[in-house]
Amino acid sequence: MAKMWAGRTDGMTEKIADDFNSSIRFDSRMYRQDITGSMTHAAMLSFKGIISQADADAIIGGLEGILNDIDSGVLPIDMECEDIHMFVEQVLTERLGDVGKKLHTARSRNDQVALDIRMYLRAEIDEITELVKQLITAVTNKAEAYKDAIMPGYTHLQRAQPITFGHHLMAYAMMLLRDLDRLADCRKRMNQSPIGCCALAGTTYDTDRYFEAEKLGFDGICMNSLDGVSDRDFCAELMSDLSILMMHLSRFSEEIILWSSWEFKFIELSDAFTTGSSIMPQKKNPDMAELVRGKTGRVYGDLMALLTTLKGLPLAYNKDMQEDKESVFDAVDTVKMCLQVFAPMIDTLKANTANMKLAAQKGFINATDLADYLVKKGLPFRSAYKISGSLVALCIQQGTVLEELPLETYRQYSDLFDTDLFEAIDLMVCVEKRISQGGTSIASVENQINYVREKL
Ligand code: ARG
Repeated sequence: MAKMWAGRTDGMTEKIADDFNSSIRFDSRMYRQDITGSMTHAAMLSFKGIISQADADAIIGGLEGILNDIDSGVLPIDMECEDIHMFVEQVLTERLGDVGKKLHTARSRNDQVALDIRMYLRAEIDEITELVKQLITAVTNKAEAYKDAIMPGYTHLQRAQPITFGHHLMAYAMMLLRDLDRLADCRKRMNQSPIGCCALAGTTYDTDRYFEAEKLGFDGICMNSLDGVSDRDFCAELMSDLSILMMHLSRFSEEIILWSSWEFKFIELSDAFTTGSSIMPQKKNPDMAELVRGKTGRVYGDLMALLTTLKGLPLAYNKDMQEDKESVFDAVDTVKMCLQVFAPMIDTLKANTANMKLAAQKGFINATDLADYLVKKGLPFRSAYKISGSLVALCIQQGTVLEELPLETYRQYSDLFDTDLFEAIDLMVCVEKRISQGGTSIASVENQINYVREKL
């Protein structure tokens, strides 16, 4: 195919070189941003008297026609083209003749592609933000439903202290809130316009970069033209934020997988978000959670791919940078899919509160409260800790639990023990006494729920 850039060379490249060079397979998804950017560019050119109003009107009308035709499917995107920018310009020139050729005045594909990606990702951040909010809502609603469901809280995956399922879920709501914050922060830095940086050095035309930036919804312009065309920080930053978000979803997934196991049996996922085995009839597999955990590695990989690509690049634009799109698009697509499946999976899961309670009762997770009981009666904590530990050892030896030991046995260890000790080690009492901010008592968890709902 004849190249629009033929001149210095005859543009008669080998087919294999064209295929290798082409990015239209993955950048055609930015056609809307490309066309919108071009319409604004034409408007700026005429505003500054660089092209006539009539030419700008023709170009803008032509671009609008192309946009509608791509949207409606009348105009299929030609995969033989080098990239989406060339495709749009080529169709415009076919449709308008020489007027179409005026569009590319005072710009380059280098600032054009930088503009398109920023606009594209900006919209993706807005979508992801919405999806994260939906997930937080699902998590928070679930937490509210289970704010009094006692379960063991773990450290080292060993039963540690009694908490509620609501409290545990709210930990994830807090993580996701931070993800929202990070995305907003990233969007802010991304929202600077590179258009008008041109190839690298700026331009001799009397352009107005602020005119374009403002019309396209940017907060400002990239202040150095070399930086404007070579900066892909916003892609790396977005992927870092998405990696952290995926890390959160992956930890959540890991717990969902554990909790769904026959060993834990703390939750039951809805049939709609599980799969069966092709051979083992009894299986109900948490595939969605496993895939989210798996895809986390993929998003990390996308980030590493781009960082590695950028690492040795001299200024300004290098063709290596065309590799930015596949990784950042993959990361964005993957995260969106994960969030879309995660929210309803959480929304439809049911907790097996009886099993959670049972696990909480058998793990001596009230041993701290037993020690605290003695402390409140005047014993130093270390001595109380020792007595509580010895009583746990005794229980294990006798195959019983703290709740079942007779008061006489307790008294052999300390005469500070009285009948009120049984209330002090009651699991619900242990939970309800943890009224510190952020703690596991129902009131503290309700505060957390209100905090998150207000933030949303
Ligand atoms: N397809 C290219 C990319 O994605 C567009 C920019 C090309 N610029 C150039 N001077 N070859 O990066």
